[in-house]
Amino acid sequence: MNTAADQRYLQALDQARRAEGSEGSAALWTLMREEASVKAAQEPILGSYFHATVLNHKSFASALSFRLASKLDNPMLPTMLIRDVITEAVDSDPGILGAAALDIVAAYTRDPACEDLSTPFLFFKGFHALQAHRIAHWLWHRDRRTLAQFFQNQISVTLGVDMHPAARIGSGLMLDHATGIVVGETAVIEDDVSMLHGVTLGGTGKETGDRHPKIRRGVLLAAGCKVIGNIEVGAGAKVGAGSVVLDDVPPGVTVAGVPARVVGRARGKIAAHEMDQSLK
Ligand SMILES: CC(C)(COP(=O)(O)OP(=O)(O)OC[C@H]1O[C@@H](n2cnc3c(N)ncnc32)[C@H](O)[C@@H]1OP(=O)(O)O)[C@@H](O)C(=O)NCCC(=O)NCCS
Repeated sequence: MNTAADQRYLQALDQARRAEGSEGSAALWTLMREEASVKAAQEPILGSYFHATVLNHKSFASALSFRLASKLDNPMLPTMLIRDVITEAVDSDPGILGAAALDIVAAYTRDPACEDLSTPFLFFKGFHALQAHRIAHWLWHRDRRTLAQFFQNQISVTLGVDMHPAARIGSGLMLDHATGIVVGETAVIEDDVSMLHGVTLGGTGKETGDRHPKIRRGVLLAAGCKVIGNIEVGAGAKVGAGSVVLDDVPPGVTVAGVPARVVGRARGKIAAHEMDQSLK
């Protein structure tokens, strides 16, 4: 499905970037439903799957709560109760939907393997983990910490992403592959960050309190890198695959190795967007 040059897609991306809260997801949702109809016709064996996940829902909010609840269900806590919690969070904080829309835009514009808008929603567990974390974070700040920890555990067990509910994350994020990701309690991930599998944002084990990394806007954290301690990775920096970062990273540089050292400087592009597909 080559949607990149379609004017309606460009407008929907623009609306998601500009609009506040749930408004941003409206145009994306219309296109996602169209895509799901085409997919259901192309692959009838998955017809009921596309109906249950997308076509049965009148709104993005309804589809998202259903999708996340079905990912996080557990024999001890029925899916419908999990869905009620998600719906409560989304109704009370429309920013959760706006951030989800921007995460779809991030996957679509940065991941060459993502050919349309419904794919992250349907099939990318990095997208599911981010949305479920936002619900856990919402619970954490309403003194429902036990339920937040239940969400953290379910996200880790079913999606392979272990993020503390208190960790603060922005929007327009992409967790590519999203296996083996660990994010500590006092970590911060700002907007427009791309993170591949195997990334750890951890403490040194020698500090208490505010002890985890601060990842500034537009950073690329490549596969398997470990960023350790209350250090800052500056805006637009790149951390090479397999690196161990122990010190602050200035904005716009590339660091690599163990321990990581500066190996290059940004060439004008935002690091996290380097997986851009050229037409989008
Ligand atoms: C960091 C990265 C983005 C390259 O950034 P860049 O600014 O284009 O850097 P360059 O490729 O010009 O490399 C600069 C130097 O650092 C070295 N280098 C690059 N990445 C490195 C790494 N991960 N570990 C050690 N050295 C590395 C290069 O060999 C080069 O050294 P040289 O100057 O002696 O030749 C890339 O190495 C990387 O890690 N990409 C992501 C890969 C990934 O996660 N893939 C998973 C896909 S599923």
